Amino acid sequence: MRAAYYTAYGPPEVLRIQEVAKPTPADDEVLVRIRAASVAAADWRVRKADPFLARLFNGLLRPKKVNVLGFELAGDVEAVGKQVTRFQVGDAVFAFTGFGFGAHAEYRALRESGGKPSRDGLVAHKPPNLSYEEAAGLPCGALTAQAFLRQAGLREGQRLLVHGASGSVGTAAVQLGRHLGAEVVGVCSGANVELVASLGAARVIDYTKEDFAETAGTFDVVFDAVGKTTKAQRRSALARGGRFVSVRGTAKILPDDLETIRALAEAGALRSVIDRRYPLDAIVEAHRYVEAGHKRGNVVVMLR
Ligand SMILES: NC(=O)c1ccc[n+]([C@@H]2O[C@H](COP(=O)([O-])OP(=O)(O)OC[C@H]3O[C@@H](n4cnc5c(N)ncnc54)[C@H](OP(=O)(O)O)[C@@H]3O)[C@@H](O)[C@H]2O)c1
Repeated sequence: MRAAYYTAYGPPEVLRIQEVAKPTPADDEVLVRIRAASVAAADWRVRKADPFLARLFNGLLRPKKVNVLGFELAGDVEAVGKQVTRFQVGDAVFAFTGFGFGAHAEYRALRESGGKPSRDGLVAHKPPNLSYEEAAGLPCGALTAQAFLRQAGLREGQRLLVHGASGSVGTAAVQLGRHLGAEVVGVCSGANVELVASLGAARVIDYTKEDFAETAGTFDVVFDAVGKTTKAQRRSALARGGRFVSVRGTAKILPDDLETIRALAEAGALRSVIDRRYPLDAIVEAHRYVEAGHKRGNVVVMLR
């Protein structure tokens, strides 16, 4: 099968499209024929080993454990292991791959259930109202936002500030916050104000013109969805007893979380924002664009 493969840490050009072995599903796995996959922030970070600690996970001198990136995908089940009960050949699915990555390829085998989400990933039926590309862009941002909002204990009627509201995590956080009944204020640059408002933010602040810490009042929860707030901003924006959560922390994803995301998307409470689409052959350009740090929502590569 064709895949975007890399054998050295470095710039986007280390990625090469080449033939690699097609996986065979184990008894508890489904084999997914991938139609679309996202290029996420985690992909360029692991490709570049930035932060340096990424080398502890993937090999000190060169990538050893993961040579095919891609953290989330959507496609069709092509084969199932004999213990699989939830899926059948032909089912349309979407998935978070966990730290095994491997979505920038024509096929990926995934454990049906029972593993550790961050290590083994999660797979669920694709919401029928989402295209493959929309579904491919949803899991990582939505699972991350859901985990941090849960950690913050966000409740109905509270005020939530989402900083970096136009990224993959941010666009999901605005919608999930709204769904939980919070009053959501989003922070992004001017070009994305309309988008963030359309996702349900009651107010949107353009960070190039205004400092939210000075003008937006106080919040029960401040979620830094791009890891760029300062300590002083957090101090002045948090209400007494308020909680701060950030993507710089660890998202604790639970086994049923992708099913919750599927149900919310199917009910129309959560949509996937797609910025750009690239063919797999343009994976280098896709990485370059995502690494610049200004994508709106998600960037996807189309496998077929
Ligand atoms: N902890 C975890 O488990 C976990 C999981 C997933 C992702 N992450 C991390 O979460 C971060 C966000 O990822 P992502 O994929 O959502 O988006 P991203 O590609 O990292 O960021 C894109 C968005 O950030 C906005 N942005 C850039 N600088 C900003 C600033 N100074 N203030 C406010 N917004 C700013 C950009 O909007 P403008 O163009 O308007 O500036 C753009 O829409 C990444 O660092 C990623 O590594 C962590």
